[in-house]
Amino acid sequence: MAYSALMNVMVGAARKAARSLKRDFGEVENLQVSVKGPGNFVTAADRRAEETLRAELAKARPNYGFIGEEGGRREGSDKTHTWIVDPLDGTSNFLHGVPHFSISIGLEREGAIVAGLIYNPITDELYTAERGKGAFLNDKRLRVAGRKRLADAVVACGLPHYGRGDLELGRRELAAVQEKVAGLRRFGSAALDLAFIAAGRFDIYWERNLSPWDVAAGLILVREAGGFVSDINGTDAVMSNGHVVAGNETMHRELLAILKAAGRD
Ligand code: IPD
Ligand code: CA
Ligand code: CA
Repeated sequence: MAYSALMNVMVGAARKAARSLKRDFGEVENLQVSVKGPGNFVTAADRRAEETLRAELAKARPNYGFIGEEGGRREGSDKTHTWIVDPLDGTSNFLHGVPHFSISIGLEREGAIVAGLIYNPITDELYTAERGKGAFLNDKRLRVAGRKRLADAVVACGLPHYGRGDLELGRRELAAVQEKVAGLRRFGSAALDLAFIAAGRFDIYWERNLSPWDVAAGLILVREAGGFVSDINGTDAVMSNGHVVAGNETMHRELLAILKAAGRD
């Protein structure tokens, strides 16, 4: 696939970081059986991947700012461009030897996400999108699913867990959605959940309390695949409040209504 100069930079960085993540994942699978487990090893792998991404992106675009989950924000002299990076999205999966995790790179220009990349090193699925140029899985153009009936929908979600989020609200929302749809999934990588919406694999996805690096790349992927993304109130504030609903126009609207009603109960 012929990528733009910008996307080539993003793809090169992602592939380089992916090589070490993939090696480390092989090691994690061995560490499962040790008493101490792979915790510290995974933290190191995560940091190493972020450092590779930061260095590779900086080599090509030295003036851009950088926000990474592990290292925080680094200002650039170019105040209009910022990379927003999650070097390992799906850490729990990685830690448990489950091959469903991703690298996520978004580029923000003057407050808008203009390019996104999500890469699963294990399946070698590379999702890319640039504003106005469509969304792709490897070299295949993507389109969100066309299904219109909730009863046919496979729905992805995130679940609040111990120490994080409103568990009671999470259960109410889950119950409200569960009784209307064909199936629920909790796969554990927000970036891949959004990529799967763009690819038409899932019909709807919702999750609360995410961080900018979980969603930056996914937002543009879904939109460039013809989908709708908003926060749970239907506004555009996903990057700032971390609540996200994504799907085709009909599914997106229907899910917003269900979540609104569940929030009132
Ligand atoms: C997490 C994953 C997960 C979502 C969590 C995120 P991490 O990111 O995206 O699917 O439910 O809330 O924090 O910690 O694996 O980078
Ligand atoms: Ca993440
Ligand atoms: Ca992460």
